Amino acid sequence: MIEFIHAGKTYPNGVQGLKDVNLTIQQGEFVAIIGLSGAGKSTLIRTINRMIDVTAGQVIVDGVDVMTLRGKSMRRFRRHIGMIFQSFNLVTRSTVIKNVLTSMVPDMGFLRVLFGIFTKKQELSALAALEKVGILDKAYTRCDQLSGGQQQRVALARTLNQNPSIILADEPVAALDPVTANQVMSDFKRINQDMNITILINIHHVDLALDYAQRVIGIRAGEIVFDGPVEQATQEVLDTIYNGAPVPKANDEQTAPMAVKDAAKAEEAAVPRREARG
Ligand SMILES: Nc1ncnc2c1ncn2[C@@H]1O[C@H](COP(=O)(O)OP(=O)(O)OP(=O)(O)O)[C@@H](O)[C@H]1O
Ligand SMILES: [Mg+2]
Repeated sequence: MIEFIHAGKTYPNGVQGLKDVNLTIQQGEFVAIIGLSGAGKSTLIRTINRMIDVTAGQVIVDGVDVMTLRGKSMRRFRRHIGMIFQSFNLVTRSTVIKNVLTSMVPDMGFLRVLFGIFTKKQELSALAALEKVGILDKAYTRCDQLSGGQQQRVALARTLNQNPSIILADEPVAALDPVTANQVMSDFKRINQDMNITILINIHHVDLALDYAQRVIGIRAGEIVFDGPVEQATQEVLDTIYNGAPVPKANDEQTAPMAVKDAAKAEEAAVPRREARG
């Protein structure tokens, strides 16, 4: 369980990233966090694994106040929280399986790390993680030969391989075309359902949030302005979260003429990737 109790974050320059946040997230929930750029989405999820420290109130994960963690206890704690970024953070010149195996490095001896010696058991575990995200056949391919969607799946496999109870994902589909974004979102959903992993995802595209998550948290200028099941996120609610600005969507007519939501269908469709964003 994750709890925010009157949690706040004031950055050293005085900007209030979070204001009096109160939330309870149960194990196994799939939560989308939405809001305008600068609203505080990244700040919110990063306080959970202490990438960012709160400056007021408490963040409590499975009964532990995260601000009390130090050294070894902090490292152990972080092993249970996977983090996924927009930019994948892969070693692109390495093979897929080597990237997945790096999640095991914190548990290994110095020499094994130095020479990249992994046990059969570790290799099997990495292959199993790749199977879960449907890219087992790419295990020995170099990451720079994969599409953006495939690379994000490698990142997801690497995270799964550390056996997390929570996955924090900061704009994991922002760099992907709509079809691929739908595929990656359905990977998250499947993993959430099959493995009971709590997933918190920051996402710009509201339609994807509503299609795949169970619960939506809307944040505006550091404050939670909506928190409820996706069914309750009406247009009126979205107008409040977005201050009346147009709600960003991945699957609108211009960007995705055929909104393919089913991963299998998407695979067949083989829509060319959008140019890398400059
Ligand atoms: N290191 C920092 N120092 C000072 N202010 C910061 C810092 N990081 C974020 N902020 C500010 O805190 C507020 C929330 O930022 P945050 O990155 O959490 O927003 P976000 O909702 O993730 O935005 P985006 O959608 O653009 O990623 C913004 O006003 C931002 O400028
Ligand atoms: Mg952000």
